[in-house]
Amino acid sequence: MPESAPRRRQLPLIGQVGGGRSRATCRLRCGDACFHPAPNTSDNPYFGDIFAKALSRRSVIQAGAVSAGAGALGLAALSPASADRRGPDRPHPSPRPTFTSVQPNNDDKITIPRGYDQHVIIRWGEPVLPGAPEFDVYDQTAEAQAQQFGYNCDYVGFHQLDDDHALLWVNHEYTNEELMFPGYAGGDAATEEQVRIAMAAHGGSIVELQREGRTGKWVLSTGERSFNRRITADTPMRLTGPAAGHDLLKTAEDPTGTLVRGMLNNCAGGMTPWGTFLTAEENFNQYFANGSGSAETRRYGVGTGATGRRWERFEERFDLSKHPNEINRFGYIVEVDPLDPGSEPLKRTMLGRFKHEGATTRLADDGRVVAYMGDDERFDYMYKFVSAKKYVEGSRRHNLSLLDTGTLYVARLSGNSPAEEFDGSGALPADGEFDGSGEWVALCTDTESFVPGFSVAEVLIHTRLAADAVGPTKMDRPEDFEPSPVTGKVYCALTNNSAREPGQADEPNPRGPNRHGHVLEIVESGNDAAATTFAWNVPLVCGDPEDDDTYYAGFDKSKVMPISAPDNLTFDKDGNLWISTDGQPGALGINDGLHVMPVEGRFRGELKTFATVPVGAEACGPFVTEDSKTVFLAPQHPGDGGSFEAPTSTWPDGEFPRPSVVCIWHTAGREVGR
Ligand code: FEO
Ligand code: CA
Ligand code: CA
Repeated sequence: MPESAPRRRQLPLIGQVGGGRSRATCRLRCGDACFHPAPNTSDNPYFGDIFAKALSRRSVIQAGAVSAGAGALGLAALSPASADRRGPDRPHPSPRPTFTSVQPNNDDKITIPRGYDQHVIIRWGEPVLPGAPEFDVYDQTAEAQAQQFGYNCDYVGFHQLDDDHALLWVNHEYTNEELMFPGYAGGDAATEEQVRIAMAAHGGSIVELQREGRTGKWVLSTGERSFNRRITADTPMRLTGPAAGHDLLKTAEDPTGTLVRGMLNNCAGGMTPWGTFLTAEENFNQYFANGSGSAETRRYGVGTGATGRRWERFEERFDLSKHPNEINRFGYIVEVDPLDPGSEPLKRTMLGRFKHEGATTRLADDGRVVAYMGDDERFDYMYKFVSAKKYVEGSRRHNLSLLDTGTLYVARLSGNSPAEEFDGSGALPADGEFDGSGEWVALCTDTESFVPGFSVAEVLIHTRLAADAVGPTKMDRPEDFEPSPVTGKVYCALTNNSAREPGQADEPNPRGPNRHGHVLEIVESGNDAAATTFAWNVPLVCGDPEDDDTYYAGFDKSKVMPISAPDNLTFDKDGNLWISTDGQPGALGINDGLHVMPVEGRFRGELKTFATVPVGAEACGPFVTEDSKTVFLAPQHPGDGGSFEAPTSTWPDGEFPRPSVVCIWHTAGREVGR
């Protein structure tokens, strides 16, 4: 059997240990978002509704013409993105991954292909700051935790200083107190020290790395570690951009509306061309108690009672009945300069406020910087920011101002097949593609609002409500975006949507319910990141490939691997898409993993599994180095669903679960995935 030939174990494995997300993780990570009604109750039409009213537009697009009718609807009129599709007559533009897929499993370890090795770089609790105490899980303190590596690693960024040295940024999204504290009682029984340890375990870390020899193995630096840094839920940071200082951001603690303590629930992120990290505040709502029940708080899923973690018992700022504006200071993209360890993290209000999954950047043809962003909630939207000013190579001070002025857009998508062809089953339409066109609808610039009734600051603080008013497309939990470094095409992971009814299916979200998610491919008009129109298609509809409702870009489904809940995306230097997963209860019943899929050429859609993560973990990171010699992976919440006393995982050391970051490399020095 050739090395790359597929072998696949029968699915599902439901009933064995592990596999899906536990209810505990849902509660701790996102405040049980999927167990509450979706907070988008706007009456924005699903695309099917739009389509029924737009027969004239359909006939025009089906004829392949660029139509005035589409313009009249405010919809982009582009031909589908079929020009660059896989075809037997086209040369294969990027090397095909040749490793043998890891098999689906429920093993409590990271499983990688033959020929590769792995190394745990850093674990929860290991010292980050010089002089930090060694970790003692039985005698942990908040003071120690604030100097040590935080909990639940999500986004991993990598800033290479030279051939052998680099800075690693890691988000610490949230805490699993049941797994962190022996004998944890929870609720009102949680001690103040436990609460403050949890606050200190949120945020992010920067650690210096060094390469081991000439390999793809990276280890903690043995040098001075002067760049090492911890950011927590208490670190002072500054609000910048058009909304900074607005009355909605002023509190008793900060009458200026510009200074905030901490960042919360930082999920995915991104890097800028000028070498800073972007980190995204996601499910910030769950940290705030006693919401008023106003439309603004409901739209962000804020509860009206106590929080699960009870931080409000020890820090009044988390009690909205006393400090109603405090929550308006969370839910932003935060820019962190790793080369200036003393710098304030900057909350960039120009990029809007929602459950930010991440922010990945690309330069427009004219040098303006573009950031793509998902709002991870069922039926929420995809966003894009385009800067007003241009990136200037080498001008760090100038570039650090780019995210404060520009235009914020939200995406409206249109399909090119008849609405009646989408019944929620996931069956392909008659034209054989889930595809169409779209437009980026401007919400505001830094000086002008385009949403009636909203000032610029109100658009940027109540972004979800402002977006509701312009009729964007309700998507199936838009998570990570990633532009291909080879083609410039942009990809978005749509994790799943348990609440989409069959009648709510449309061409961009063709299944209802959508249990396993899909991936969207966007081709900006003229391949210019600043374009306001685009073509799109769905190259991957996830699930068990033996099920009819899955689609792997038309590739032979007997030769691909199962995948559910695509979450974080990255690319290798050849333009192959790497997809990590965050499975949900009752999905495929297998451990989450990291998959690789070519998106160009003959093997477009040939999805392979590169790694699986331990029991209960979701596979975060990932990041492939520029030389493609290393992939970083951050298994988040191993042991999910258990307790410290009865863990479902003991990864990585066989004692108790510790969220950690690992690197994986080929022992013969080959590029990863090859
Ligand atoms: Fe924290 Fe949307 O995942
Ligand atoms: Ca179609
Ligand atoms: Ca995520």
